[in-house]
Amino acid sequence: MIILGIETSCDETGVALVEKDRRGTLHVIHNSIATSLSLHAQTGGIIPESAAREQLKYMLPTLDKSLNIINNPSKTIDVIAVTVGPGLIGSLLVGVETAKTLSYLWNKPLVPVNHLYGHIYANFLTHTDIPFPSLALVVSGNHTDLVLLTSHTESEVLGSTRDDAAGEAFDKIGRLLGLPYPAGPLIAHHALNGNPSAFQFPRPMKYSGDFDFSFSGLKTAVLRTVTSQPSLTHSNIADICASTQEAIVDLLVYKTVKAAKTFHVKSVLLGGGVAANEKLRNDLSKEISRLENVTLFVPEKKYCTDNGAMICAAAAFKTSSQNISEITVDPELFY
Ligand code: KG4
Ligand code: ZN
Repeated sequence: MIILGIETSCDETGVALVEKDRRGTLHVIHNSIATSLSLHAQTGGIIPESAAREQLKYMLPTLDKSLNIINNPSKTIDVIAVTVGPGLIGSLLVGVETAKTLSYLWNKPLVPVNHLYGHIYANFLTHTDIPFPSLALVVSGNHTDLVLLTSHTESEVLGSTRDDAAGEAFDKIGRLLGLPYPAGPLIAHHALNGNPSAFQFPRPMKYSGDFDFSFSGLKTAVLRTVTSQPSLTHSNIADICASTQEAIVDLLVYKTVKAAKTFHVKSVLLGGGVAANEKLRNDLSKEISRLENVTLFVPEKKYCTDNGAMICAAAAFKTSSQNISEITVDPELFY
């Protein structure tokens, strides 16, 4: 079965072709992404209308890149999958209307996919033998969620952020340091030269006893530190970045390990843009390896940030097709 996946929930325009073979293994045939990030770097964040306008420009050329890979796409493709939410309404509409048009023209089933499950199912692009019950940590620009999956169709949200998401915390703290959007990868880069113990930033809600997160207090603490510095130099920027990353990763790892123990899961799945963070991957791997009979799965880095392949993966295992007239975008969609 060959799935065409379309992802346009935020600033990326992602199109992918993924094959699911008879044994249920996924093979990415093609994954193309166009991004308007350089535009958002100039404005310090995403302006929804500009993101959607860029996606209108990128949608067909990006689609063409994938379709040109295969012969006779209208025959070869079996299913079309598209992100219907959560995300920016204008951006989601670009992908959903494109997918609906193709589904109608080619008479192919259309699968509406929840972007958040897309991030979780990015893990299935490289591993199909993931055991349930499974705990997913979804860490993106807008979400920080711990989700318990008991099967492909049953899940329960154990906790979420009460304010900023982990990615948002990286991005906002980066802005305080004069780093362009999205600052997550740049903070990780500067952190390599910094001392993670240079500043003792707070760990809000670490011992709250639940599985919720909070990052806005951390941002305020970093702001206080930044304003107390006589000037920002390479050296103190590196120290602030390393200390910030230390605090965010510590919170994420602590609560994930606690949830994994509490719910006796067999696997932990990392997903979302922040899952590309090397320290998070390493620290989580170290802590999960201490637990008996729990395996950590992390997506390849290129499938952590938004992409079409993860949408194909969710459609391959989790979601079924619906009549195109019933499929609508839902910017607030949750699990
Ligand atoms: O999942 P994603 O591509 O988009 C959303 O669905 O939001 O995540 C984007 C977020 C941004 O906040 C970005 O700063 C963060 O992921 N990010 C990282 C890294 N790479 C991307 N944060 C920390 N370290 C990274 N290496
Ligand atoms: Zn995302």
